[in-house]
Amino acid sequence: MKERLEAIKKSALEQIEQAQKMESLNAVKVNFLGKKGELTKVLKGMKDVAKEDRPKVGQMVNETRQIIEKALEEEMAVLKRKIREEKMKSEVIDVTLPGKTHEKGHRHPNQIALDDLERVFIGMGYEVVEGPEIEYDKYNFELLNIPENHPAKDEQDTFYINKDILLRTQTSPVQARIMEQGKLPIRIISPGRVFRSDEVDATHSPSFHQVEGLVIDKGITMADLKGTLQQFAREFFGPETEVKFRPHHFPFTEPSAEVDITCFKCGGEGCRMCGGSGWIEILGCGMVHPHVLEMCGIDPEVYSGFAFGIGLERVALLKYEIDDMRLLYENDKRFLSQF
Ligand code: DAH
Repeated sequence: MKERLEAIKKSALEQIEQAQKMESLNAVKVNFLGKKGELTKVLKGMKDVAKEDRPKVGQMVNETRQIIEKALEEEMAVLKRKIREEKMKSEVIDVTLPGKTHEKGHRHPNQIALDDLERVFIGMGYEVVEGPEIEYDKYNFELLNIPENHPAKDEQDTFYINKDILLRTQTSPVQARIMEQGKLPIRIISPGRVFRSDEVDATHSPSFHQVEGLVIDKGITMADLKGTLQQFAREFFGPETEVKFRPHHFPFTEPSAEVDITCFKCGGEGCRMCGGSGWIEILGCGMVHPHVLEMCGIDPEVYSGFAFGIGLERVALLKYEIDDMRLLYENDKRFLSQF
């Protein structure tokens, strides 16, 4: 029995020493220590051993098992280390290889213009608010003094979803929404996307952006409107900029005006940029119509206010001297990387 165990031990240790792979070691483990392994076989043969010798043989089997287990463990640890070292060697990083460049994006010219514009108005104490792009007819038209059958509601230029819901054609509905909340005084700007069923060309797009402005308080006059927009024009386009108010008509303001600024390219002399006139139109504005105030729950005998609507693309194109609005939407990196 002793010889048999010695032979098993010798054979196991030899195989362990020769093993080059984890799999071979696992095979040794199964073949010698496993359920059907050599040592188990010996234990099963115990019934043929004399009773008094059994404890002795049992002990010998255990000792052999321990020796084999220990040798296996040690060899496995050595092998593991070797495998890891080889892996490390094969995964060496060549730091001299050229790196991958990550292209960094930046703000879109529209957004740069909007950030500039917001800064000017926030500096004057305005709050920036937003309204929904899908809007009720009531806010987009009715509360702004544009009743049914008004030519401004022409289906030609409005995307209707149904009779009462549409894609807003202007940011002016935010005026009505804010007034309706009844918190006074009001001093807000509201930038956002608007939609009109227009063909795309150098100055038109079915989707563009406006920035609405609204101020309501006691004793607000046209002088406040003029001073505010003059200040905006100077901060946004440059300190030499002059503004001119031309009478106009908007249903929700009375009186209404369109505002021109002196051409920042020629300073008012007349050039290609301003079509020779020296002036460039930038926005529409006016004193909020008393009927609009009333419809939105504000007493026009006590409160007055002004409003304005700036075409964001229009001022962005002017500021950066871009002559085609389509460039803003084409996502051509050669164009965008210039900003
Ligand atoms: N909503 C007008 C438009 O889309 C622009 C406008 C004009 C807004 C006068 C105003 C305003 O708030 O007072 O053409």
